[in-house]
Amino acid sequence: MHVLVIGANGTTGRITVKKLAESEQHLVKAMIRKSEQAGDMEDLGARPIIADLEQAFKYAFEDVNAVIFAAGSGPDTGTDKTTAVDRDGAIKAIDFAKEKGIERFIMLSSMGADDPSIAGDSDTFHHYLQAKHDADVHLKQSGLNYTIVRPGALTDDEATGKIDVSEEMKHREGEITREDVAAVLVESILCTNLHHKTIEMVNGDHPIKDALKEI
Ligand SMILES: NC(=O)c1ccc[n+]([C@@H]2O[C@H](COP(=O)([O-])OP(=O)(O)OC[C@H]3O[C@@H](n4cnc5c(N)ncnc54)[C@H](OP(=O)(O)O)[C@@H]3O)[C@@H](O)[C@H]2O)c1
Repeated sequence: MHVLVIGANGTTGRITVKKLAESEQHLVKAMIRKSEQAGDMEDLGARPIIADLEQAFKYAFEDVNAVIFAAGSGPDTGTDKTTAVDRDGAIKAIDFAKEKGIERFIMLSSMGADDPSIAGDSDTFHHYLQAKHDADVHLKQSGLNYTIVRPGALTDDEATGKIDVSEEMKHREGEITREDVAAVLVESILCTNLHHKTIEMVNGDHPIKDALKEI
């Protein structure tokens, strides 16, 4: 497929771009915010497109038939950016994907996004989970062929290649490497049994491909 990666310069985004390009099954368009990031994307095997979720970005959806949304405002910005990027940016991306007839939409969400109340007393975490929740609900209602991927806490450790994954939202405590999350995002594109599904995952005991097939 011809895949647009939104948030391509992010930690998970970069690994995702690399894996997509290496798979030789996909063409990759990497959505980045700054022209100085373009060379890196080309080195990874992607065609860069400069666009910002907080501005006009519909043109980024030309010539693609799948989208991976891996952007996020990050922990160092205020709640206004969480709303603008994680919620409103994602919702706009979903609407553009619908308008353009995109065949697959993979959303990198977060464990807990089905129930923001698990944030407890943390207003910032609650706001973040609510933003992810709203975007996920919009995607589910969009009619797009989606998969929502909800990992536990992300780490930069080496990939293990193994996960525990389920459609049951158990809000497990746990971590998962960004490399393994990227592998799941890439695998999800062509995994037909993940159509219209939301999965929650942490690192675990099951090889990624086998675990996803059993969902
Ligand atoms: N951290 C965790 O434990 C955790 C757990 C579960 C889920 N997640 C989610 O996983 C996703 C990826 O996490 P990560 O740590 O790999 O992310 P990251 O390294 O912070 O990367 C986020 C990317 O989003 C891009 N971005 C931010 N604002 C944007 C905008 N207005 N327009 C376009 N792109 C924009 C950034 O662009 P620049 O490179 O230009 O800054 C960056 O490339 C996030 O959505 C996060 O919420 C995180």
